[in-house]
Amino acid sequence: METLQITRPDDWHIHLRDDDALRTTATHASHYLGRALIMPNLQPPVTTAEAALAYRQRILDNCPAASPFTPLMALYLTDQSSPDEIRQSADSDKIIAAKLYPAGATTHSQSGVKDIQRLYPLFAIMEEVGLVLSIHGEVTDPSVDIFDREKRFIDDHLRAIVDTFPQLRVVLEHITTATAVDFISSARRGVAATITAHHLLLNRNDLFRGGICPHNYCLPLLKREADRCALVNAACAANPRFFYGSDSAPHPRQGKESACGCAGIYTAHAGIELCAEIFSEAETLDRLEGFCSHFGADFYGLPHNTDSITLTASPWSVPDCYEYSHNDLIPFRAGQKVSWKIQEASV
Ligand code: NCD
Ligand code: ZN
Repeated sequence: METLQITRPDDWHIHLRDDDALRTTATHASHYLGRALIMPNLQPPVTTAEAALAYRQRILDNCPAASPFTPLMALYLTDQSSPDEIRQSADSDKIIAAKLYPAGATTHSQSGVKDIQRLYPLFAIMEEVGLVLSIHGEVTDPSVDIFDREKRFIDDHLRAIVDTFPQLRVVLEHITTATAVDFISSARRGVAATITAHHLLLNRNDLFRGGICPHNYCLPLLKREADRCALVNAACAANPRFFYGSDSAPHPRQGKESACGCAGIYTAHAGIELCAEIFSEAETLDRLEGFCSHFGADFYGLPHNTDSITLTASPWSVPDCYEYSHNDLIPFRAGQKVSWKIQEASV
């Protein structure tokens, strides 16, 4: 049976939620990840260094004692974010990024930023203190076609941010388009992107297979097949500007299967196995380790994990649902097979 040993992977964009939900999400994530960058879009959002560190402890309290899992935190930027909060966050080695959500762009982004230009003084401080700017890159203007919102964000905001702050490290999160791949590929040093497993596996037809498929609804939306292929090429190119960020985003079943369903796909139960499928299909399995275990750490200036995991090409069935905070959570590939499996964690 084909096996593959890689440095323990990291996930540079994940939603673990809070309270009871952590029993499911932190257990799944800590099973195979070394580190993860935890998104701050709780309700209320994580807008202070103090709140981020308290949230981090709640996550750790829900991880098995022997787990090597290290949560790394991101601060949620708002129109009221202060220079002090940026400096305090940067002072902690446990807070490594500040997250820009344009207000209204996605789940729990109501407190996000309405006027990006007004954050420029904060970006200058982040540039100075070395805090990474992590961006949900979609405009929110309702007159812009929802499939074009990533491209418009790049043109209307991202180019200017990257040019105005030449030393600021910027991650465009969960990219979905060939346009974003081209932008990141040719951007200056210090500009990178995360890519999810679901955007590598699905295109927008998967939202409408025989009817509307709410469990494939996430933001930014799935795009055309040509975009998916561009993402696969970028991920499998061993280009250190592209690394893994699952954007695993759980919602209770009734929140997804609703007249106005929530955006978010849950992949934390099988994230690396899904990536192995993608890289195997592209005949670039030897590059999986760079994408999942090395390039993100390099970008954030952190060492590689020192232990490893072993994957085997042995198909397994994803459960129909997981228990999630007294609700059902429908995972990606529910009731279907994933063709790779994590065999063991070895030191
Ligand atoms: C995320 C969530 O549910 O928190 N949803 C999603 O569709 N990706 C928010 C986000 O990252 O956009
Ligand atoms: Zn996300």
